[in-house]
Amino acid sequence: MPGTLKTCGIKKKEPNYTFVRGDICDLELIRKLFTEKNIDGVIHLAAESHVDRSITDPFSFARSNIIGTLTLLQVAKESWKEDQKGKLFYHVSTDEVYGALGQEGYFTEETSYDPQSPYSASKAGSDIFILAFGNTYKLPFVISNCSNNYGPNQFTEKLIPLFINNIKNNKPLPVYGKGENVRDWLYVEDHVRAIDVVFHKGKVRETYNSGGFNEWKNIDLIRVLCKVMDTKLVRPEGTSEKLITFVSDRLGHDLRYAIDSTKIIKELGWKPYLQFEEGIELTVDWYLNNTDWLDHFTSGRYRDYYAEMYGRR
Ligand code: TYD
Repeated sequence: MPGTLKTCGIKKKEPNYTFVRGDICDLELIRKLFTEKNIDGVIHLAAESHVDRSITDPFSFARSNIIGTLTLLQVAKESWKEDQKGKLFYHVSTDEVYGALGQEGYFTEETSYDPQSPYSASKAGSDIFILAFGNTYKLPFVISNCSNNYGPNQFTEKLIPLFINNIKNNKPLPVYGKGENVRDWLYVEDHVRAIDVVFHKGKVRETYNSGGFNEWKNIDLIRVLCKVMDTKLVRPEGTSEKLITFVSDRLGHDLRYAIDSTKIIKELGWKPYLQFEEGIELTVDWYLNNTDWLDHFTSGRYRDYYAEMYGRR
């Protein structure tokens, strides 16, 4: 219900932590939260993030990502107008706002925005609203743009958890096109460390890019994943690779993303710690040790999504 606070059943581990289940487009609720909790800093990560879903339903991306961000910005602006000292609105964005690279080059903080999918357009739109609030209302902000994340708790619409779940259940692995697209993968805890450092040490009105120095062609990454899964599931080597199925390509599929992280490294002292081999093992272990989580999130409406997304290919 608009304007109501509903705390979820998650166990509070820290005294300064509260989980509130709500809609970021709910202006009344956000206003109430800012007042009740006396909020002086926002780390905004709430977004629809799956490109394939954005292709089938662009409106929900415009709503959550653009209107949601605008709602938070509006309330931050109202709440902090008397005194902006020590306040900060931090938007966690994506490297996809920069568009796609060819075989060479890297995205830097100076790269022009050139979003290609409804998802990246919605994230670019939210970044640009933040710049506009910084300009028009002098709202103190910082933005970071990150490469592909992987690790525990990632929803099973994304490549790595989707394929872990399919391998576990002996289902086909739908590789788009020829599997030649390249992504730069960052372990989620390294991203969390980047967020921490940007929030606490980042310069107001600046943007920081963070990536994993870890580029993989999809098909090569998938082969590594198959190997790890064979070992963990004690299956003969090569079993999981047999599930690879090439399917028709994603519409407007961006060829390559790669991030130049020099600025965050030099100015804020961040760097990624985990090697991919270690990160992928930790990820697979987490999913195989949390099959209840996996089963819960791959039942119900997810099954309908999966049938709609992959059934017709
Ligand atoms: P994804 O995890 O959706 O992240 P993003 O689109 O933000 O990069 O996809 C990673 C790559 O894997 C991307 O090039 C698309 C590809 N992919 C497949 O080949 N098959 C799939 O079923 C999915 C979900 C992704």
